[in-house]
Amino acid sequence: MSGLDKARRPGVRVIRIGVVGYGYWGPNLVRNFAELRGASLAAVADLDARKLEVVSRRYPVVTTTTRFQDLLEDPSIDAIAIATPVNTHFELGMAALKAGKHLWLEKPMAETSLQARKLMDEADKRNLVLLVDHTFIYTGAVRKMAEIIKAGDLGRVYYYDSVRVNLGLFQRDVSVISDLAVHDFAILEHLLGEHPTAISASGVNHFPGTPENLAFITLFYESGTIAHVNVNWLAPVKVRQILVGGSKKMITYDDLEPSEKIKIYDKGVSFTDDPQQIYEMRVGYRTGDMWAPKLDASEALSVESEHFVECITNRTAPITDGRLGLRVVELIETATSSMRGKGETVYVPRQGKEL
Ligand SMILES: NC(=O)c1ccc[n+]([C@@H]2O[C@H](COP(=O)([O-])OP(=O)(O)OC[C@H]3O[C@@H](n4cnc5c(N)ncnc54)[C@H](O)[C@@H]3O)[C@@H](O)[C@H]2O)c1
Repeated sequence: MSGLDKARRPGVRVIRIGVVGYGYWGPNLVRNFAELRGASLAAVADLDARKLEVVSRRYPVVTTTTRFQDLLEDPSIDAIAIATPVNTHFELGMAALKAGKHLWLEKPMAETSLQARKLMDEADKRNLVLLVDHTFIYTGAVRKMAEIIKAGDLGRVYYYDSVRVNLGLFQRDVSVISDLAVHDFAILEHLLGEHPTAISASGVNHFPGTPENLAFITLFYESGTIAHVNVNWLAPVKVRQILVGGSKKMITYDDLEPSEKIKIYDKGVSFTDDPQQIYEMRVGYRTGDMWAPKLDASEALSVESEHFVECITNRTAPITDGRLGLRVVELIETATSSMRGKGETVYVPRQGKEL
């Protein structure tokens, strides 16, 4: 019996969730929690009373408040989801854990790896579930890519190359690395199961007083895999494309494709090592079939919120737990430090590996 089924059994109390922050992303969480079986949306907090009026119109039975503290003091609330700006994550997240609430924290988990580690330790100490919302990990496309790579169908992963560009949305408090590259960092950690050893990143800020608006980031791995991530808020078109090249097969992932987001190509190269032909470069090109596997079309947040409730019910660690959240924050810090040093190679701290 899955944890979710247990949560639906008669007599088993549903998980009551409070959401903090009803700006751009919060409404997506509220909608998913409101529709989730095995859970109920208990309350929504936002500093802006006008946003709460919208909540009350859409969800008349849900309590609204401008005081986050009210959620902490409500003993009937089991879990709190925080969808406020990154600079508030540590303070609000720590307060929620100290009040004994399970925690859903938006990406990136915190501003610094020290803060992320403290949040992770606090959740561990109190045996509370901490899920960091790295939404892409729950998409049908990334789940399928992970399945293919983990089964060894791609062979050795040579490279990962991502383009994630569009016009805006400019953020006041975080750079394009924290806002967009964060998705690739989480996907890379999940797909490769390997933490990079070093990063080289370049980026600029074309508008004084705001963080970097575009960046080119290269991640180096001990296994020889190399990853490149191009993130940009100044592009005229929206592009969300990833290529993963392996020794046996290659994958393309276009997130904007309505169907056939993932395509697998049976293509590759081989070099002859015949000692008789040492002076000739003998390269063989293999061009086989291409196919588009069927993907689970469920909304990622719906899969993720179900997983959150299941983890609370069973007291198990989420796929995107505090450890993953911390490793992603380490990568943001390392990439930012390289970018501020005009692309110098910066080594990734080893702690991430040892967790
Ligand atoms: N998972 C994803 O794909 C995804 C996508 C977009 C944004 N996000 C994340 O969601 C978070 C919020 O981003 P956003 O774009 O929705 O921001 P936003 O500025 O649009 O909304 C934030 C809301 O939080 C409220 N708020 C701020 N401090 C508060 C406090 N102390 N108590 C109660 N309410 C408070 C604000 O009034 C505002 O309504 C960020 O961490 C961002 O990175 C995640």
